[in-house]
Amino acid sequence: MVVEIQNEIQNVVIFGSGLMGSGIAQIAIENGFSVTLIGRSMDKLHQSKTKLSNGLTRIAKKRFVNDAEAQNDFVDACLDNLKLCTNSDEANLEDADLIIEAIVENLKVKQKLLAEIENVISETCIVATNTSSFLLQDIASKYSHKSRFAGLHFFNPVPAMKLVEVIKGQETSDEVYETLLEFCRKVGKSPVRCRDTHGFIR
Ligand SMILES: NC(=O)c1ccc[n+]([C@@H]2O[C@H](COP(=O)([O-])OP(=O)(O)OC[C@H]3O[C@@H](n4cnc5c(N)ncnc54)[C@H](O)[C@@H]3O)[C@@H](O)[C@H]2O)c1
Repeated sequence: MVVEIQNEIQNVVIFGSGLMGSGIAQIAIENGFSVTLIGRSMDKLHQSKTKLSNGLTRIAKKRFVNDAEAQNDFVDACLDNLKLCTNSDEANLEDADLIIEAIVENLKVKQKLLAEIENVISETCIVATNTSSFLLQDIASKYSHKSRFAGLHFFNPVPAMKLVEVIKGQETSDEVYETLLEFCRKVGKSPVRCRDTHGFIR
């Protein structure tokens, strides 16, 4: 079946500036997406920014050998795509095309986040969870926009690991699913199709 992709992703919001959130932010800004990273404190966010900036510098050194100016320009251009926020009010969630949830692996906390954002986001916004162990149907049991909810399971370390499991929930629309597969390719990853089962890949 050919599914026409209508959702054009440009603005990405990432909840959680830990290991996974900052890695996902790095690959997204590197590939031209506009990213808002939401963390618990400015201190934590600045730590994440330093880490991802170091990652980008390593890439720049390989890509622009012996050209310090081009290296700096590359890193600056990527960082221009990054905004840091400590709360969702400043994050313009209504403008997000894709929200990636990469917060602590706690079912209630993930459910609470969905409840907080569901009435703020646009009618086309896709929300994806990076959960490793919970079923999508449990995380989204009370979420209103199940057709626009899916899983994007990146692996650690995100900049290095090619594989992303893209998990289709029972109600995820085909269009949303194809849009997420395409997003993964645009950030240089190799997505695999998974169903909402424990352990994924099936
Ligand atoms: N670490 C891995 O190898 C790995 C691999 C794949 C998927 N995951 C999944 O990715 C998610 C994040 O894991 P991690 O390893 O990055 O954890 P982490 O502890 O490094 O980062 C989680 C961050 O989320 C923050 N946070 C918690 N609640 C928040 C909220 N409401 N809003 C904003 N930030 C909030 C925490 O302060 C912390 O900084 C989890 O669901 C985990 O299962 C982890």
